[in-house]
Amino acid sequence: MKLGILSCSPRCYSTRRLVEAAEQRGHKAKVLNTLRFAIDLKQGDPDLFYLQKQLSNYDAILPRIGNSITYFGTAVIRQFEQMDVFSANSSAGVANSRDKLRCLQILSKHHIGIPQTTFVRDKKDVLPAIKRVGGAPVVIKLLEGTQGIGVLLAESVKSAESIIELLQSQRQNVLIQKFVAESKGKDIRAFVVGDQVVAAMRRVAQGQEFRSNVHRGGVTEAVTLDANYCETAVRAAQIMGLRVAGVDMLEGKDGPQIMEVNSSPGLEGIESCTQLDVAGTVVDYIAGQVNFPEIDIRQRLTVSRGYGVTEIHIPEGSDYIGKTISESGLREKDINALTLYRGTTVIPNPRSDRQLESGDRLLCFGKLELMRDLIPAKTRRKRSYEVLELPAQPVSGKVD
Ligand SMILES: Nc1ncnc2c1ncn2[C@@H]1O[C@H](COP(=O)(O)OP(=O)(O)O)[C@@H](O)[C@H]1O
Ligand SMILES: [Mg+2]
Repeated sequence: MKLGILSCSPRCYSTRRLVEAAEQRGHKAKVLNTLRFAIDLKQGDPDLFYLQKQLSNYDAILPRIGNSITYFGTAVIRQFEQMDVFSANSSAGVANSRDKLRCLQILSKHHIGIPQTTFVRDKKDVLPAIKRVGGAPVVIKLLEGTQGIGVLLAESVKSAESIIELLQSQRQNVLIQKFVAESKGKDIRAFVVGDQVVAAMRRVAQGQEFRSNVHRGGVTEAVTLDANYCETAVRAAQIMGLRVAGVDMLEGKDGPQIMEVNSSPGLEGIESCTQLDVAGTVVDYIAGQVNFPEIDIRQRLTVSRGYGVTEIHIPEGSDYIGKTISESGLREKDINALTLYRGTTVIPNPRSDRQLESGDRLLCFGKLELMRDLIPAKTRRKRSYEVLELPAQPVSGKVD
């Protein structure tokens, strides 16, 4: 395989190890400076130039995009995607994970533990927001901080308010987050490759410090994660669109609480702590996947007129409960069930004799007009203010 490593730091530990691991395995690896690409757009022929020459053929790329060049870096990855070159991390994945708000917004839709977090703009909304996440002490974070620098703990509601006011006056966007006290200055870094956690470590803050970042003096120890932590880390990476990711989790009383997902996780800390060949695992994984470049389903499937992908929910009391997929009549209507989601289980290509259960969700591809009729009435979320403020309305059978 010919692998391109997109990186602006050819001499850093991670880049060197990746090149070394690729070469040891008989692959060709080249470090390509992300900022030296030119993105050329022509009808039907997306192209890339590198150092003013047309880029030669690569089988795969591994993006290592630093925080400061997200826009250009993700544009370069997107161009490789248009050229059907396999990228270990998608451009959307890198962008999604880059800021903590966007990352948590995406994860919050799924059943994945995250510390309760709010994002507000108006001064009047700050105090209620702090209260909603449990009051003081409360964590305040800059959206794009790293190495613990943009993270602080406010001991009282008063100090939280003044810190937030100060940061907002400096045009900084901040997150207000529940302090997961039971994690006691520790966190877990799970290194995900594909659908596995290939290495994990616990970082422990020293002294009075609550941040466990190694740059803040945190000390590391290798850990073997239980299935719940592994599954959470892998799902989070997959939801973000990342196949190589560093997932940071707090050890909450109800299990893992994801703080962030990193798209260019460093190798030095994890390899020296666990003594594992993480770089080799990354390279082996990419070599096994080169023939499966990311396909943008929306781009490819929904160009057929009137066809699209949608999710059909099977709510309590639905007529579909107890029926098999073939009995549901979907197939006759030219609707294909691609994936069945049941709780946290994902069943790809569900068989036609599989029985539907209450709470199932079916990801389907088919004619949108026909699927519209099949989508059961949207179950409204019960919110107290709706009950208080809205007059009772008959549940409509249509989706809005
Ligand atoms: N909600 C929280 N509760 C308890 N500790 C936290 C919380 N958020 C962050 N921390 C601690 O602060 C550290 C840095 O936070 P993180 O969100 O990962 O920012 P950074 O991107 O700067 O590493 C974490 O590793 C963890 O030890
Ligand atoms: Mg972190």
